[in-house]
Parts: sequence; structure tokens; C-alpha cells
Amino acid sequence: MKELERAIEERGSVLADGVLKVDQFLNHQIDTSLMINIGKEFVKRFQDCKITRVLTIESSGIAPSFMAANELDVPLVFARKKQSLTMTDDVYTSSVYSFTKQETNKITVSKNFISPGDHVLIIDDFLATGHAAIGLTEIVKQAGATVAGVGIVIEKSFQGGREKLEEKGFRVESLARIQSLKNSKVTFLEETLI
Ligand code: G4P
Ligand code: NA
Ligand code: NA
Repeated sequence: MKELERAIEERGSVLADGVLKVDQFLNHQIDTSLMINIGKEFVKRFQDCKITRVLTIESSGIAPSFMAANELDVPLVFARKKQSLTMTDDVYTSSVYSFTKQETNKITVSKNFISPGDHVLIIDDFLATGHAAIGLTEIVKQAGATVAGVGIVIEKSFQGGREKLEEKGFRVESLARIQSLKNSKVTFLEETLI
């Protein structure tokens, strides 16, 4: 997605450890008009999938998912990283290892918000090693629902997350695919530039 690649190039910065900082439009300050276009692009790519629900994980997955869910006219559910005091319902849970934080966190979704008949589109802001996305697919599986696909705003293609998801049979659509962040330079995979 050209507009997103331009935002990454012009408003993103590469941190020394292979991390892309996009606080300017995605992870802290949010560019709402870019989010609207991101939502529309996800809808375009998954329009054949009969999606009944969008699932993401708090916090940075919510903005791009919101726009997609709104366009699809389906509910948006976000997995929680911390157990909420008011969340007394039965829950689906999955353990997600964070490679940047080097810790395992439990993510939870109330059983009220995913049902066996659902076709769930999973969306997240970043795909790195893929643990978060796989955790979300496990929650969908526990619900007896179907994963319609995985939509990612920014894929770091050098960290293996896509391969893990595709091995499990999931379709992955990433709006920007980054081949390398070496020498503080963002290089996109060529096919995303076509
Ligand atoms: P993984 O799930 O794909 O394996 O990635 P990882 O454990 O590294 O993810 C930890 C957090 O860091 C996630 O957000 C993920 O979206 C984010 N992340 C991973 N790589 C990058 C990167 O290069 N740049 C930025 N900005 N974020 C990255 P989170 O901790 O859950 O935070 P949030 O959703 O509350 O913002
Ligand atoms: Na994040
Ligand atoms: Na995230």
C-alpha cells in the first residue's frame, strides 16, 4: 500500500535493534485518515471471505481494526493483555511470548464475543515473530470459529512470522512488507512496490 509505505519512509525511523518506530502515525499519535484508508484496503483484500467479526489485540491493533470492522459492518473484539476486573465471564486464553519484551503474557477474550459460526479476520499493527497473531488464531480455534485470514499493517518479513502462519494454513495479507531495516534504512520487499 503506497500511502503506508510513504508514511513509513517519511515519518518512521529505524531504531538500532531492527525495530521500526512509527509513533508518528500508528503506535502513539494516530493518523486517522491513513487508518481509514488502511481499513478500506483490508476490506478490499478480504472481501471474498464473508467475515462476521474482526479480532485484534490491545492496544495498537485497535485503530486499524476499527476502520476495517466499520467498513465491513461487523463487530470488533480486542484481546486483553491484562485481566479486567469486570471480566467475570468465561474466557478463551492463549499464552503469547513477546520477543521484544522477553516475557510470556496471557491474552484473554470473553466467550461472549466469538461464536462457533464466526468467520474471524485477525488484524494487528505489526507482524514480527508471529507469536501475537498465532495466539489470536488459537483463541479463534478454541471458540470453534474459523480464521478467515490475518491482516497486518506492517510485516517485518525477516522475522519469520508470515512463514509460521502460512505453515498453519492461514492466509496473510500485509499492507507493507519490510525486507530489511539494516543500516537504519527501510527496504521494502519488491512486490509491495508494484
Ligand atoms: P510478535 O508478536 O510478532 O512475535 O512480536 P513481538 O513479540 O516482538 O511484539 C511485541 C510488541 O512489539 C507488539 O506490540 C508488536 O506489535 C510490537 N512490535 C514488534 N516489532 C515492532 C517494530 O519493529 N516496531 C514497533 N513499533 N512495534 C513492534 P505490543 O507490545 O503488544 O504493544 P501495543 O500493541 O500495546 O502497542
Ligand atoms: Na505495538
Ligand atoms: Na501489536
